[in-house]
Amino acid sequence: MFRSVLFCLCLSPLGLFAQTDATALAKEKACLGCHSIDQHTMSVPSYQKIAEKYRGDPTAVEYLSEKIRNGGKGVWGGGGRSLMPAFLNLSQSEIRLLVDWILSMKETPAQ
Ligand code: HEC
Repeated sequence: MFRSVLFCLCLSPLGLFAQTDATALAKEKACLGCHSIDQHTMSVPSYQKIAEKYRGDPTAVEYLSEKIRNGGKGVWGGGGRSLMPAFLNLSQSEIRLLVDWILSMKETPAQ
């Protein structure tokens, strides 16, 4: 019993629950306090726009992981004043989960 619980815990970030885990983490770490999935603004990019911008870029995972860890500004307008805060308290695997989640987003087609 104990063993199967451990087994589930280990697999869940890679498995079926990846989506939910990433969403929960993004909520818990306040990412979704600033970012919206699909509401893009001048000062804070939506995750769908970020995915669109970096899709197909082979350096995207490394670059975005770095940016989440150390924060930064000046890429998305906001007059260079909108700041992405640094998240030094996130583990490498948490950051990876968030980056993969963001990059997997597709823009909802305009209706
Ligand atoms: C205080 C508001 C705020 C919070 C909280 C926040 N962000 Fe950001 N984020 C921003 C802003 C503003 C930018 C645009 C920065 C720029 O123009 O370079 C940004 C940019 C980004 C980018 C794109 C970087 C680029 O260079 O294109 C990613 C990816 C990102 N954030 C992920 C996250 C994740 C993941 C979290 C949670 C761990 C998070 N953000 C939390 C405000 C925030």
